[in-house]
Amino acid sequence: MLDFIVSENEFNKDNIPWNGNRFLIGNGYFGIRGTLEEYSKEHMCAVNMAGIYDRAGDAWRESVNAPNPLHTYIIVNGTKYALPETEPKSHTQTLDFKNGLHLRKTQWQTENGTITIECERFASMSRRHLIAMRYTFFADFECEAEIVTGIDGDVWDINGPHFVKIQTGTQGSVNSVIGTTGEKNISVTAKDCTSADFKAEQTTDEGEKTVYRHFSFKAEPGKEYTIEKIAQITTSEDDFDVAGEIDKLTYSMLRAEHITAWERIWDISKITIEGDDEAMYALNYSIYHLNCIAPREMKGKSIAARGLSGQVYKGAVFWDTEMFMIDYYIHTEPEIAKTLLQYRIDTINGARAKAAEYGLNGAYYAWESQEGGYEGCSDYNVTDVFTNRPMRTHFRDKQYHVSAAVVYGIMKYIRGTGDYSILGEGAMEVIVECAQMYRSLLLKYADKPYYEIHDVVGPDEYHERVNNNAYTNRMAKFVFDTALEMLDEFEAKYPEKIKALDDKYGLEATKAMLKDSAEGIFIREPDNNGIIEQFEGYFKLEDVSVDTVRSRLLDPKEYWGGAYGVAANTQVIKQADVAAMLSMFKDDYSADIMKKNFDYYEPRTEHGSSLSACMYSLLACFTGNTETAYPLFMKSAKADLVKGGKEWAGLVYIGGTHPASEGGAWIVAVNGFAGISEQDGKLVCRPSLPQNWKSMSFKLVYRGTVYKVNINGTKGEISY
Ligand code: BGC
Repeated sequence: MLDFIVSENEFNKDNIPWNGNRFLIGNGYFGIRGTLEEYSKEHMCAVNMAGIYDRAGDAWRESVNAPNPLHTYIIVNGTKYALPETEPKSHTQTLDFKNGLHLRKTQWQTENGTITIECERFASMSRRHLIAMRYTFFADFECEAEIVTGIDGDVWDINGPHFVKIQTGTQGSVNSVIGTTGEKNISVTAKDCTSADFKAEQTTDEGEKTVYRHFSFKAEPGKEYTIEKIAQITTSEDDFDVAGEIDKLTYSMLRAEHITAWERIWDISKITIEGDDEAMYALNYSIYHLNCIAPREMKGKSIAARGLSGQVYKGAVFWDTEMFMIDYYIHTEPEIAKTLLQYRIDTINGARAKAAEYGLNGAYYAWESQEGGYEGCSDYNVTDVFTNRPMRTHFRDKQYHVSAAVVYGIMKYIRGTGDYSILGEGAMEVIVECAQMYRSLLLKYADKPYYEIHDVVGPDEYHERVNNNAYTNRMAKFVFDTALEMLDEFEAKYPEKIKALDDKYGLEATKAMLKDSAEGIFIREPDNNGIIEQFEGYFKLEDVSVDTVRSRLLDPKEYWGGAYGVAANTQVIKQADVAAMLSMFKDDYSADIMKKNFDYYEPRTEHGSSLSACMYSLLACFTGNTETAYPLFMKSAKADLVKGGKEWAGLVYIGGTHPASEGGAWIVAVNGFAGISEQDGKLVCRPSLPQNWKSMSFKLVYRGTVYKVNINGTKGEISY
């Protein structure tokens, strides 16, 4: 395997936030930011928990960070050596993403000689509650050394503090810090057990929020002193048990089984590309991230827009999961995809409540969904940089397209797995109720023959409250069509369950409603130039370049959208909108129309969302423009490898990992370049590889069978 290593070979303080994302490790239950062992909250350390949320006071609800059981530093002859405070002599930070290992090696020059620390750690892929770390110290001179290692309960929070109570404890060789959240009284417990392979005086000190173990010893020159730590994170919300007791497990044994688990993952996930190492590296790095955040063996959990890289975007689940990430899981480990959808099924009550709140029928899924489908998005989701006041935005109330994304995700799952059982497990209700929601949005003017949808925000968030957004209307039609089709399937497959459904919805009337809506909804056709207007009146907006709009900013952090945003009265859009629609419904349009729309919209797109480039890339692939698609694909695959991603929306920090972009890169590689699609229940391969790619091979799970795809030049083969 090509070296799957990310490394930084010198210390740069400015990279601390970015490295936290770039060097992330995780196992779906938690993510551990790629910060160094001696760091604390000001360096954005986080063991970010999946699906655990809290609200502190009136601040935004967000995911919770566990007490950090990796906190470790070295004291030599009474002086503490730690980054970023003490300038190192040399420093390397490494992510071995083949094996899910985080490593670092740092040397400091002291007055008496050089000291070195090395550390390796991982988030166990085989036992989801566990983290393991091996930390080695050596000096080239004799010295008094002290390794301090423990649990830091003084965690980094964006809208915290979330722990209203913190208890520390020691029991034998096991230390613990338990944080209890204020809103729901959820406890998050970190325990650690550290052993040394050398003789040392050991003491323990308990602070208000911390427990540390001190290993003090006289270090001989050149001799290595290693401590090994096994740590465990649990919460009072866990629905699966811990495996093993941390004082009985060993680092090497956990490491071996962790690597075996990653080998299994790579066996099904790896994509080999001959002729373009950079693309192969970036794509597999993206796949690495998708695996670090996959809710394996967990019930009804989804994935947040910034994965498990922190509390950014409130740790909430967006349309990103169903539109951009789920494809990868459907075709590698379909059980994970089902878990993601189970989350939507389980949270339908939240969606019903949101629909009711806006006077709509059915289910309106949260824009920023937290546990139970709770809507984490507020009406004022951006802070104005000029006034420092919350700015009214309409993400929460008007991005109706999120419900359609949920249905779209369900259908991708059903088509890709052939598993209709999900319909009988609640997905049928989700589909019907999303359709009901769209039905209640339809309006009809007396002088027009069709239904319209007014006052929405489409994927392009810079233009709010628009009418007949092409994407939203088309997705609504998709939901009506799908509901009709799936009701028939349901009836055929679950005759015993149909009565209950009929009692609930009145199927005859529902079907009539669906048919009427699907046939009657206004779907915008291309104009005389072949362009589909993004929404009513879009063409009348000022037609200026992205650069011109950028030059009008008075503050680099200023928000481009909203009522007064610099983009709002122009044709400059944030992200793929019409382009997204075209790539999703490619069979409805000719290549010529798709190309014309690509050529029109792409230059007018800021790509201010990391979800944008992959959609354009896919569209370019569908029009046979592989070389146009390539840089957009690379942009998507490298979202977390390249510094300088968008970090602010107004005054709100939005940095973190970009799993939707990573999932989008996978979609482009597989459905775009490799040209994999489904035809009459079979996979077909019509490749169009970028110029340098001599060959491409990968595995794909489709309807219960693992297929091998081998592409050589223009020839594609699917075998099993
Ligand atoms: C994008 C949304 C996306 C969200 C989370 C926003 O910037 O406009 O489409 O769902 O980020 O990734």
